[in-house]
Amino acid sequence: MSTAAPEPKANMGQPIPRYDAVAKVTGRAEYAADVPLANPAYAYLVTSAIAKGRVDSFDLDEARRVRGVIDIITHENMVKLKDAKLFSNGGYMSTTVQPLKSADIAHDGQIIAVVLAESFEAARDAAHRVKVSYSTMPPTASFDSQGTTAAGAKGQLAQFKEDPEVGDFAKGFDSAEVKVSAEYETPTQHHNPMELFATSCAWNGDQLTIYEPSQYVYGLKNGVAEQLGVDADKVRVINAYVGGAFGSKGSVTPRTAIIASLARRLNRPVKLVATRDQGFTIATYRAETRHQVKLGAGRDGKLLALRHDGHEISSRPDPYAVGGTKTTTRLYACPNVASMVSIVRADRNTPGFMRSPPEVPYLFALESAMDELAIELNMDPIELRRINDTTTEPIKGKPYTSRSLMACFDEAAKAFDWSKRNPTPRSMSDGDWLIGYGCATTCYPTQMAPAAARVRLQRDGRVRVQIAGHEIGNGAYTVIAQAAAERLGVPIENVSVMIGDSDLPPAPVAGGSNSTASTCSAVMKVCDQVRQRLLKAVMPEEGVINRAKETVGVGRTPVTDAAHGDQALDREKAFDALGVGVVEEYGEWKPEGAPLDSFHAMYAGHARLIGGPEFGDKIAYAFGAEFVEVRINRNTREIRVPRLVGAFACGHIMNPRTARSQLMGGLIWGMSSALLEATEIDPRNARYVNDNLADYLVPVNADVPSVEVILLSEQDDQVNPAGVKGLGELGNVGTNAAVCNAIFHATGQRIRKLPVRLEKLEI
Ligand code: MOS
Repeated sequence: MSTAAPEPKANMGQPIPRYDAVAKVTGRAEYAADVPLANPAYAYLVTSAIAKGRVDSFDLDEARRVRGVIDIITHENMVKLKDAKLFSNGGYMSTTVQPLKSADIAHDGQIIAVVLAESFEAARDAAHRVKVSYSTMPPTASFDSQGTTAAGAKGQLAQFKEDPEVGDFAKGFDSAEVKVSAEYETPTQHHNPMELFATSCAWNGDQLTIYEPSQYVYGLKNGVAEQLGVDADKVRVINAYVGGAFGSKGSVTPRTAIIASLARRLNRPVKLVATRDQGFTIATYRAETRHQVKLGAGRDGKLLALRHDGHEISSRPDPYAVGGTKTTTRLYACPNVASMVSIVRADRNTPGFMRSPPEVPYLFALESAMDELAIELNMDPIELRRINDTTTEPIKGKPYTSRSLMACFDEAAKAFDWSKRNPTPRSMSDGDWLIGYGCATTCYPTQMAPAAARVRLQRDGRVRVQIAGHEIGNGAYTVIAQAAAERLGVPIENVSVMIGDSDLPPAPVAGGSNSTASTCSAVMKVCDQVRQRLLKAVMPEEGVINRAKETVGVGRTPVTDAAHGDQALDREKAFDALGVGVVEEYGEWKPEGAPLDSFHAMYAGHARLIGGPEFGDKIAYAFGAEFVEVRINRNTREIRVPRLVGAFACGHIMNPRTARSQLMGGLIWGMSSALLEATEIDPRNARYVNDNLADYLVPVNADVPSVEVILLSEQDDQVNPAGVKGLGELGNVGTNAAVCNAIFHATGQRIRKLPVRLEKLEI
């Protein structure tokens, strides 16, 4: 065991190395744009240089003269595609803006032309020679720009159902002895996955194959089919690996159907790899948010009133909102709660999910305000969380399926040496460096969605698992193999896993941290079907079959585990009794409480996530506690983060190695979202300024000298058969608040607007 492969505690699987590790580090892993195509044409996008207005005319003469150019497509010669609905409004799309449909321009960097050429270089050269005349209208850039419109999210967006409230906030707040009322702000951020937004489309007769990095191959297949007006069964999406996504590859972007239709027109495969800067505008992003938080408490620290109002930027046509008050209103015990989420429209591309979509901005506000309240109360911030810890959420009184928040605080505080902290702000230093310790809660909804799987067992004990899951760096191949190996009682080496292909049985979007819970639950169910067939063959008596059935459901009992009332099974004998060479089973699994039409939606590429606050008469969340040390130079104001410590409880841990890796990456990103990352928008023209990885700051190793992840043992048999609470997004929630809480401790200065840059410090 090593730091990278933590010793499993109770209810944890083995920290086996990633199934795809060697392929990735040796460059043998084939990403979508690596797939060789026969005689491809290369596409290069031309995107708008204005954010609002229209294209008056193109001058394409010079571009057409570039050797190797095949065609240039604009709204004047593009075939019409069908309109499609927004992902979060029951459809598939990242945006309802359809580029190349008309001369209109709705946002900066909108696709306005596509150059097709015999080589990437020729297409790029020609694209740079396309001349565009625009009629420009003054665009609305963001919150403080002229021309914004604001309205409540409720009623505009199918995914946003309510503004949670309970009791009488005004009365509770009035009566509170200690109050905090503050405004917080988070910036625009872009996912910037290493793998660019690529797509390759190839037709074989009326069959379309799409090679594209996707977090949702069933969504992409069905969404593109809808836009092209073809049968979804004629469309196949393949991608064995996704080189980072973080939400940006979950919905269908307009590029795919455009490239598919051009490939059909050319009767030739077409390959597109968009540039880094184009990725800022042809896909989604995390929009900037503003928050007003009011907390009222008694002298004892007990919350009496909590109000959280959030404002989020969206595009002119689309009412997207992350809507995090569903979490912040339920995190702590409080009798009087009010909330409201508003969508503010500007002339921007439509935002979307970005890792831990609502919790990253919304818990920044709440966990900063909790720290401010602790200061007002002269109380340790951990004790404030302890006093307001609860096993039932306050809005509807539903019990948490499990909640180990304070155990996480205790473990992390011990590892961090929190007891050495002098609580007085600006009291700790080391030479020129002011030292600050801060902490915050993290939580993330435990979500699941229906999934199907096919499992084949051979007489020699080898297993093949097929499910259209997604390897987005999360360890999907590895944990799916572990689920099958554990359930069938075979060595992990015996299991091969096929994912990332829409011809496989459907899995939901790899988003909302549901993948491991959903895919492993489905795979375990189908493994049980395999076991049943074998058991029936060798133990046909009624009683034995019933006993075998009893093991189906919650639990992780291998076939040979007699302790769980199961029967040891002679596999070869069972195969001979059945008279078959392989046993193969297909099965569908849906989470508890999923509606009856769930499987229909699953095949149509609509992932209906169940869980979090919407988990029947219960509420399901994973929890953690995060601690940050900052050091701020008195002379230069340089801010360093020498230590990050997080402790997390997430139900059954399939693999402590992949789990730690996810949480470590999250902690680093959380720190980065406080100190480094922000997309700057020019308020005059509503264009992104730092749309490249030189100017958009991301952390490097030297920015995070020490990151410690502690996995707590937790068992939750209520969430799903795998007992898994998702953890892919848990790590980077609350970190931004912990950083600012540490900065306050170091300096006495409260920073409520991210990112924290040294020019904001007044020391
Ligand atoms: Mo994640 S933002 O739910 O892909």
